[in-house]
Amino acid sequence: MGYFRENIERAKGYEPGFQPREADVVKLNTNENPYPPSPEVMKVLREMKGERLRRYPDPMGSEFREGAAEVNGVQPDCIMCCNGGDELVRIALQAFCSEERAVAYPVPTYSLYPVLANLQDCKTIEVPFDGEFNLPAKLAGTGAALTIVCNPNAPSGSFVSVGELASLADELSGVLLIDEAYVDFAEENCTGLAKEFNNVIILRSMSKGYSLAGLRFGYAIAQPDLTAGLLKVKDSYNVDAIAIAAATAAIKDRRYFEENVEKVKKERARVSEELRGLKFEVPSSQANFVLARSNEGKAGEIYDKLVQRRIYVRYFDSPGLNDKLRITVGTKEQNDRLLGALREILSEETTWVGSG
Ligand SMILES: Cc1ncc(COP(=O)(O)O)c(C=O)c1O
Repeated sequence: MGYFRENIERAKGYEPGFQPREADVVKLNTNENPYPPSPEVMKVLREMKGERLRRYPDPMGSEFREGAAEVNGVQPDCIMCCNGGDELVRIALQAFCSEERAVAYPVPTYSLYPVLANLQDCKTIEVPFDGEFNLPAKLAGTGAALTIVCNPNAPSGSFVSVGELASLADELSGVLLIDEAYVDFAEENCTGLAKEFNNVIILRSMSKGYSLAGLRFGYAIAQPDLTAGLLKVKDSYNVDAIAIAAATAAIKDRRYFEENVEKVKKERARVSEELRGLKFEVPSSQANFVLARSNEGKAGEIYDKLVQRRIYVRYFDSPGLNDKLRITVGTKEQNDRLLGALREILSEETTWVGSG
């Protein structure tokens, strides 16, 4: 066409997971929380006054900032509200990267990073994980302006210890963005590193642990100087009035959040065990999904047969992932439907079983 910048002409754009429109499906493909948001959120939405919508929202989302600061044991000026965690990745790339200033990250990881890096027209340095998803030693020496580590990693669910990330933050000359979108389901988190290091930014999402994927809300935790720099890059009103009120209610309802997370973790353990019983290799996951490698059949074909049964999981047709399925942990009923379907598919007499 010729109208766009060259990098935009070249770009393929991000391919989000399929969002089926029918209600009667088992949707385990985009890592949403299977339980509804807190009743406190629904109450806020019911009571929302038109006046709050007539006016522009608070540009800083102060009520959420204060709530998130309290939950994380930091000052409110260490928090920046975002329109989903994805927006923070874009803001960080815009703030730190350019043609001469690279972004580095271990791979395979969240496939949005290279897409957004390409829009910023910055160099990407992809450092491969080993087979066990250990943090690659080379990541510390890339010289990148921004290094992103997704922890727990997607789509592996693997977890790098806080100690290792502390050493990485210490060694890097640039900024370390730790994408903790799934950390609500993990045993520990890196909030302490944002307090300790002036080059660490933590990304949090309200989409997973708080069941608010449809709201689009996330936040950054970083020292005030770093936060102040990021604030210069965000849109003036990047989070809307409804979202600020609902996300604040969600983060304050600690009991509901903790109970939900426990239910997901319990189901994660059960689903992992049952999948292993079906001869899938399932490394332990610290997220709300598992990455399962089938020893019995081809992942792509199993995926297709699940779709025929209106069960959606995620299949990435890319090297290192095309023998695996990423399966979001659902409710007990959803997981039972998935496991039942897999039992049926794997017991079908077909020529492809055992063919690799
Ligand atoms: C690894 C990772 N980071 C960040 C996000 C962003 O989440 P959201 O923009 O919904 O807050 C996602 C969403 O799926 C994700 O998988």
